[in-house]
Amino acid sequence: MSSLRRTEIASLLKEATINEDVLIKGWVRAFRANRFIALNDGSSFGNVQVVVDFENFDEDLLKEISFHSCIEVLGTVVESQGAGQKYEVVAKEIKVLGASNPDEYSLQPKKQTLEFLREKAHFRMRTNTFSAVFRIRHAIAYALHKFYHDRGYYYMHTPIITGSDAEGAGEMFHVTTFSPDNAPRTEDGEVDYKKDFFGKQTNLTVSGQLQAEIAALALGKVYTFGPTFRAENSNTTRHLAEFWMIEPEVAFNDINDNMDLAEDFSKYLINFILDNYPEDLAFLEKRILDMEKQMPKEQRRPMPLIETLRFVVDNEFERITYTDAINLLRNSKPYKKGKFEYDVEWGVDLQSEHERWLVEKKFKKPVIVVDYPKDIKAFYMRQNDDEKTVAAMDVLFPGIGEVIGGSQREERHDLLVKRMQEMDVPEEELSWYLDLRKFGGCPHAGFGMGFERMVLFITGMSNIRDVIPFPRTPGNAEF
Ligand code: 4AD
Ligand code: MG
Repeated sequence: MSSLRRTEIASLLKEATINEDVLIKGWVRAFRANRFIALNDGSSFGNVQVVVDFENFDEDLLKEISFHSCIEVLGTVVESQGAGQKYEVVAKEIKVLGASNPDEYSLQPKKQTLEFLREKAHFRMRTNTFSAVFRIRHAIAYALHKFYHDRGYYYMHTPIITGSDAEGAGEMFHVTTFSPDNAPRTEDGEVDYKKDFFGKQTNLTVSGQLQAEIAALALGKVYTFGPTFRAENSNTTRHLAEFWMIEPEVAFNDINDNMDLAEDFSKYLINFILDNYPEDLAFLEKRILDMEKQMPKEQRRPMPLIETLRFVVDNEFERITYTDAINLLRNSKPYKKGKFEYDVEWGVDLQSEHERWLVEKKFKKPVIVVDYPKDIKAFYMRQNDDEKTVAAMDVLFPGIGEVIGGSQREERHDLLVKRMQEMDVPEEELSWYLDLRKFGGCPHAGFGMGFERMVLFITGMSNIRDVIPFPRTPGNAEF
C-alpha cells in the first residue's frame, strides 16, 4: 500500500501532525453511515475515527468493511470536528486484511452479555470491557514485579509439577502418563506410581510456598508468581481451577511484618493502576454505574469504583483477631436476627457472608483477620503460645472477601513434626521441608495473593471468570 511505517493508534491519539499522512491498522469497532469508521488496534482505550468519502471508494470494498473486520488505512491527519478527540484520519486508501461476517452470530455493535462473550474468545477481547480488563491485568503483573524488584526481592520460579500437597487439602490435579484403563498395578492392586514418569505420584501445584521457603532462607526475600491449580468443586464467582498466585516469603519476618507487607503491596498495586490507567478505570466505572441503574439499591456498590480504590489506598486496613471477629459477629444485627445462613462459633471458619459483614458493614474497608484456630488452618502455620491458635492472617476486601492468605511459618522442628502427625501430613514426602528446620532454620513469614481476585477488585468486575483470558472452572476448559 505504502512504504510508510505503521503508526499505533495510541501514539496517534496522543500526538500527530496535521496534514501528515499516516498508515494505521486495526479492527473496526463501528462503521456509521458508510462514512465514519471507529478503528482500534488495542494500543489504547480510545478509537481513532477514520473518515471515508464513499465516492472515492469501490462499493465492493466498502461492503467488506464491517464490525470486527481488520483493515489497513493510509490517510491524512486532520483536526477532529467531533468532541472527545483531537485528530481524525481522512482515508485515501483502504485495504481489507481480514473480512468479518457480521451475520454469523448476528453480531451487532451493541452490548453483549459477558456469558455470551466467554464462549466467543475472539470477540471477547476486542470489546471495550475486556480490553480494559486485560490492559489492567497486564499492568498489575508488571507492577508486582516492580514492587518486589525495587525492594530487593528475587523472583523465584517454583515447580508446577510437584509431589507434595502444600495446603494439605487434597484438592489436586494428578499428573501421570498412565492411561486410566491399564495403569500398572502393585501386588495389592494399587496403581504402581513407581513405574510412572517421575517414579512417584505427582500433581499440579496448589502453591509454591514450601519451595519459596527454601529460597527465602537462602536469598532472604523472594516471591513467586505463577499458575496454581485447585481441583475444588467450587462453582462460585471467586473460584477458578487454574489461577495465578503471588507468594512473597521473607526470612526474619514475623506475622506483623507480614501484615505490613500485605497492606503496602495491595496499596501499591491499586495506586499503580489509579496513576497509569485512568481511562480504562473510568470506562469500567461508568459501565458498572450504567448496569446498576437496573438493579435494586441494596445490590449496588456503596461507592463508585474509583472512589472505592482511593478509599482503600487512603485508609489503614483494620486489623483484628479471629476471636474478636467472632465476638463482633455474634453481637451483630444479622446474627441476632438469624439472617446469617451459617452459624458463627469459635473454631469454625468464617463464611463469605461473615467476611462481607466485617468488611462492608462493620469496618467499611479491608480487614486483616489474624490468629485463627489451628484446626481450620494448614499444618505449616506457627503455633501461638495459647496452643489454640496459629499466626495466620487473611486479608479481606470489600465485595470479594479473601484476597490474601498467609502466615508466620512454624520454624520449630519438633512442633512442626508434631503438628504434621496430628494432621496426617506424610513426613517422608516432606522430609526436605523438615530439613529446612534442621539446618539453620529461622522465623519467617509469607502470604499468597490471589492474582485474579486482586484484578477483580481493581476492575470492579463481578465474576472472576471475566478477569482471566481463558477461564478454567468445573465443567469448562474451552480454548
Ligand atoms: O489461602 P490460600 O489457600 O493460601 C496458600 O495457598 C498459601 N500457601 C499462600 C502462602 O502463604 N504463600 O490461597 C492464597 C490466595 C487466596 O487468598 C485467594 O485469593 C487465592 O489464593 N485463591 C484462589 N483464587 C482463585 N480461585 C481459587 N480457587 C483460589 N483459591 C485460592
Ligand atoms: Mg486461604
